[in-house]
Amino acid sequence: MDKALSGIRVLDMTHVQAGPTASQLLAWLGADVIKFEPPTGDVTRGQLRDVPDADSLYFTMLNCNKRSITVNMKKPEGKEVFMKLLEKCDVVMENFGPGVLDRLGFPWEKVHALNPAVIMASIKGFGSTGPYAEFKAYENVAQAMGGSMSTTGFDDGPPLVTGAQIGDSGTGLHLAIGILAALQHRNRTGQGQYVEVAMMDSVMNLCRVKFRDHQRLERGPMPEYSIDTEGRHATPRSGNDSGGGQLGNAVKCAPGGPNDWIYVVVQEVVWEALATRIGGEALAKDERFATIGERRKNQAIMWGMLNDFGSKHTKREMMAILNEIDVPCGPIMSTEDLANDEHVRGREMYVELDHPKRGKWHNVGMPIKLSNSSVQMERSPLLGEHTDDVLSNVLDMSADEIARLKEAGAFSR
Ligand SMILES: CC(C)(COP(=O)(O)OP(=O)(O)OC[C@H]1O[C@@H](n2cnc3c(N)ncnc32)[C@H](O)[C@@H]1OP(=O)(O)O)[C@@H](O)C(=O)NCCC(=O)NCCS
Repeated sequence: MDKALSGIRVLDMTHVQAGPTASQLLAWLGADVIKFEPPTGDVTRGQLRDVPDADSLYFTMLNCNKRSITVNMKKPEGKEVFMKLLEKCDVVMENFGPGVLDRLGFPWEKVHALNPAVIMASIKGFGSTGPYAEFKAYENVAQAMGGSMSTTGFDDGPPLVTGAQIGDSGTGLHLAIGILAALQHRNRTGQGQYVEVAMMDSVMNLCRVKFRDHQRLERGPMPEYSIDTEGRHATPRSGNDSGGGQLGNAVKCAPGGPNDWIYVVVQEVVWEALATRIGGEALAKDERFATIGERRKNQAIMWGMLNDFGSKHTKREMMAILNEIDVPCGPIMSTEDLANDEHVRGREMYVELDHPKRGKWHNVGMPIKLSNSSVQMERSPLLGEHTDDVLSNVLDMSADEIARLKEAGAFSR
């Protein structure tokens, strides 16, 4: 079937999480993604293993719909294979530590000279310029340095990382957007270009509204925060406050387990109906909550009443009660809830796959749904599973040529 990115070939040198999320998205969109691995493989194949000798879920969940070729870039014959593949690819992707490609002899200038039409896409922790350029980075390093950790958690507690992998997968999304833009530019000009995304920059982008509040603090306290923001100079951690123009918070539900909570947004237009439902007409007419300004001032009392109401219902009952009166809300869904959720299954967001070494497993589905480019999810490749296939079918190499390169150690340690 013709897909959105059919005909685009990606040389995917990425590893761990940040890069592979981007190349997996491109593969789901129809690109031919060739995962170009060192002979020992992407390190995540062996990390956090749950089945002996099988690729870990860390690897399988980030590398679907790709082919795998192993090439030793530290051998001249390995570099020869890389250069040949460069000629046959539209995009080359990498997220090595600072200076790795230079040491291998392939900085962007060299790649561009070898194939002026190729797009090179890189993820770095902090980009290629500036005082932090030489530093390596992982997910939580980016969350720490991009503003996320300082604004997540409670005011009187430590900074917290978020469960959503905004440093890695969030950066991967930015990279995929950059690649698609560069492909469009190349369609017009025939020229490739260098796309660079820094993890720190991506996290800052995702924390944009926290910098809105940072600047608002210069003009005085922020009334919607449930904590006192008078005299502050940096956006504080504000627990589960909504962070938007409407009041919102997490409300505890029955029977009181760790995920028996529901997030409730007390949207301006729903207050009367919500107040009537939880406290009758008297509450709907209560002057202390008549306007959003009053509700902000008295929000501790308001949330107390909502928590009393919530403690008499499960989160699913609350979801039904609140949606009935059009109150935006969301029960706190555990991974177990989501893995068994009818809506999630129906939208193919938790997909069962098979694997020759691990058997049945699940991947999170493709969240971008294109009407003319549906995704058929395929398992991740075994290490080097497609080496011969790529050499003979992409590079048109003869059996003798492949044997010569193998003999010279192009594909092994
Ligand atoms: C993630 C990270 C911290 C891992 O650090 P690391 O394990 O030391 O890996 P590096 O990328 O720095 O180095 C990879 C090494 O493998 C080698 N290598 C990679 N592909 C190879 C291949 N096909 N053949 C031979 N060697 C290869 C590189 O040459 C390099 O060796 P060198 O240090 O001798 O130059 C680092 O890659 C990084 O900061 N990446 C950018 C930010 C990022 O994406 N982080 C998030 C990851 S989820």
